[in-house]
Amino acid sequence: MSEKFDAIIIGGGPGGYVCAIRLAQLGKKTACVEYRGTLGGTCLNIGCIPSKNLLNLSENFQKAKNFSKVGIEISDIKLNLDKMMKNKDKAVTLLTKGVEFLFKKNKVSYFKGFGSFVSDKKIKIKSSDGKETEIEGENIIIATGSEPSKMQNINFDEERIVSSTGALSLKKVPKKMIVIGGGYIGLEMGSVWSRLGSDVHVIEFLDHITPGMDKEISNEFMKILKKQNIKFHMSTKVEKITKKGENVEIETSNIKGEKNSHDCDVALISIGRKAFTDKLNLEKIKLKTDEKGRVKVDKNFKTDKKNIFAIGDVIQGPMLAHKAEEEGIAVAEIIAGQSGHVNYDLIPGVIYTSPEVATIGKTEEQLKKQNIGYKIGKFPFMANSRAKAIDEPEGFVKILADNSTDKVLGVHIIGPHAGEMIAEMAVAMEFGASSEDIARTCHAHPTFSEAIKEAALSVDKRQIHS
Ligand code: FAD
Ligand code: NAI
Repeated sequence: MSEKFDAIIIGGGPGGYVCAIRLAQLGKKTACVEYRGTLGGTCLNIGCIPSKNLLNLSENFQKAKNFSKVGIEISDIKLNLDKMMKNKDKAVTLLTKGVEFLFKKNKVSYFKGFGSFVSDKKIKIKSSDGKETEIEGENIIIATGSEPSKMQNINFDEERIVSSTGALSLKKVPKKMIVIGGGYIGLEMGSVWSRLGSDVHVIEFLDHITPGMDKEISNEFMKILKKQNIKFHMSTKVEKITKKGENVEIETSNIKGEKNSHDCDVALISIGRKAFTDKLNLEKIKLKTDEKGRVKVDKNFKTDKKNIFAIGDVIQGPMLAHKAEEEGIAVAEIIAGQSGHVNYDLIPGVIYTSPEVATIGKTEEQLKKQNIGYKIGKFPFMANSRAKAIDEPEGFVKILADNSTDKVLGVHIIGPHAGEMIAEMAVAMEFGASSEDIARTCHAHPTFSEAIKEAALSVDKRQIHS
């Protein structure tokens, strides 16, 4: 007889593990199936956490090289990449083990193995030693995440032609790295390797980086990255990728019809990710996916089957860990008879480069397209005392507020600690704040967040410091 659960979650990433813990908190007998060997999914193992570790360390390395200019004399700053990678691995282990501890604490049953559907309520788990177990669930939640999109069906060898996974574990600093795709991964990992000494070139299909982001921010972002010595080849299509000896050759053509060939020792392909449902046996239970391979769900995360739900990267919406987590909590509460809910209008996005880029709500382009009248408030970090005090004056805060009601509709920040500052605006916008509400809120001095207050003042052209 197979063991029975109130809920089984397939996938132990931020969507799956958060959902499992919340279900257990709500008194449901819960199982989570994960085949990776560690919990935390893409995010903790090969995504958010290792990339942020390397972004931090590479930024420190870069800063340390300039210490002598500000009176801190250290001789002989050298990179020990092996040690840096070990530090990154330690952070990953600490966090993945932490999730395992949380499972124990909340009495979530953790099944190590690959899950697939036997029927609407039955899951087969195949462990790495080939052993098979079956468990039953009243409710089943698919949280199987995503994987890197391939280009021209080329396989990642994760040494010379790499996805983000390989780019997080290179054994030596590439002399030249070509990044295909100027999005989140390309710009974060490109920044890491550029700071560590690579000559980084980004090939982007469009005429701008970070598609979907407010154009003014995206343009400023590219300008700043260029100053950091990252080179951009825009409106450029990759025609062919070939391994040549130790190198990789990338043939391109641009919008003007010019053809080019780039040699590099590492090519990072970061052109997006796709939903992962391989070998889940969705056909068996007649569950449909959309044209992008994502599991189709309604607003309550329910598939065509009334006891099967899906959350996170495997369904539509931004592929972000916090989005997956919110969905995990919402679906757990829905299963427990509560009214779980995710506000998709207010999901922040952060790129952890230096400076950081953070955004929430509508972009100016979206407001124009939707014919919504808006006012703009802007404030440069150049005029922010904290930013000037520590010599990080790049970037600005941009607030978009409704023309007639003054309600804040979008906030876009490029600047120091933007990723932390955006949380203030997420809370404010959840409470329907106007720009005047922000402008009249006392912000501590000297802080970067004063730039938000000043941008809010600037919506009505009454900023003080610029
Ligand atoms: P995943 O995290 O992908 O987890 C799914 C899990 O399911 C995996 O562990 C997989 O092994 C398991 N699984 C799949 N199929 C089965 C099966 N049949 N049986 C058992 N287990 C299965 N997002 C942010 O918000 N901030 C960031 O800074 C950020 N940085 C990133 C950096 C990189 C390099 C990458 C690649 C991604 C980054 N992301 C970031 C995106 C973030 O990692 C994902 O949005 C998030 O992990 C999605 O969570 P999920 O639970 O839906 O899926
Ligand atoms: P992305 O969607 O962010 O960027 C892909 C880029 O590649 C786009 O600019 C696109 O125009 C370009 N592109 C697509 N096809 C191309 C082609 N054939 N040639 C050249 N350029 C091409 O995808 P990315 O960077 O792979 O990241 C995947 C997802 O992972 C992100 O969308 C994000 O959701 C998540 N992520 C989040 C991070 C964060 O929150 N800080 C960090 C890293 C990843």
